[in-house]
Amino acid sequence: MRIAVLGGTGPAGGALALRLADIGHQVRIGSRSAERAEEVCAELKGRWPDRSLDLTGAANEDAAAWAELVVVATPWDAAASTASSVAPALAGKVVISMANALTRLGSELVALVPPRGSIAAAVQAAVPAAMVAGAFHHVPAHELGQLDDPVDCDVIICADQAAAAEATAELVDAIPGLRSLRAGSLAAAAATEAFTAVLLQVNRRYKTRTTIRLHGLDKDASEGP
Ligand SMILES: NC(=O)c1ccc[n+]([C@@H]2O[C@H](COP(=O)([O-])OP(=O)(O)OC[C@H]3O[C@@H](n4cnc5c(N)ncnc54)[C@H](OP(=O)(O)O)[C@@H]3O)[C@@H](O)[C@H]2O)c1
Repeated sequence: MRIAVLGGTGPAGGALALRLADIGHQVRIGSRSAERAEEVCAELKGRWPDRSLDLTGAANEDAAAWAELVVVATPWDAAASTASSVAPALAGKVVISMANALTRLGSELVALVPPRGSIAAAVQAAVPAAMVAGAFHHVPAHELGQLDDPVDCDVIICADQAAAAEATAELVDAIPGLRSLRAGSLAAAAATEAFTAVLLQVNRRYKTRTTIRLHGLDKDASEGP
């Protein structure tokens, strides 16, 4: 599949782009600067010289127009505006929002409540003709970028359209170690995004990088509509 990662020059989008290219997708990193996107691609591919990675760079608008599925991987306060800036290219496509609205309050990282409850909902409102899914919020960029190792994490997916949730789940489940869990509509994205603040506080206290695994679930046996 052709996948664009807008803001993929950062650690989170870059790591996701690497992983998706490693499992056989054609991936284009998007940036506000095509040159920066190309530089980051060269740097990422340079880290994995023995892998065959179909990873290229382009301006956000060109990457979005080229792709069949688009990930928005900018900071939270730029996600809706970035999606909106390429809105015609996103119509009818699945768009994945991975942004977490967080801010520092003293020594703590705390969750903000965006006007629509979540960044994923704000992205959906910015591009109503696209099908937005919230996903990858709790997957640490560092582990995602270590291609030799599986990523030990569940990925909560929220979307208003079933097609967006299904396409996102298919991508997630193809990445070694990740397991998709569908948590309902975009209304659930508020809790999903905000929980990232809890993980980061735990990480800070215990000097580690935690991920999430939900227990008590036999996914194959119990999956419903
Ligand atoms: N880091 C993690 O482990 C992790 C895990 C899960 C989810 N996330 C989420 O993933 C998102 C990306 O995280 P990150 O740490 O990679 O972010 P980042 O490095 O701060 O930003 C990613 C890219 O977004 C672009 N960007 C920055 N400001 C922008 C603006 N005002 N308008 C448009 N584009 C802008 C920049 O690319 P150009 O300058 O090249 O355009 C930048 O390289 C965040 O929302 C974060 O909450 C992060």
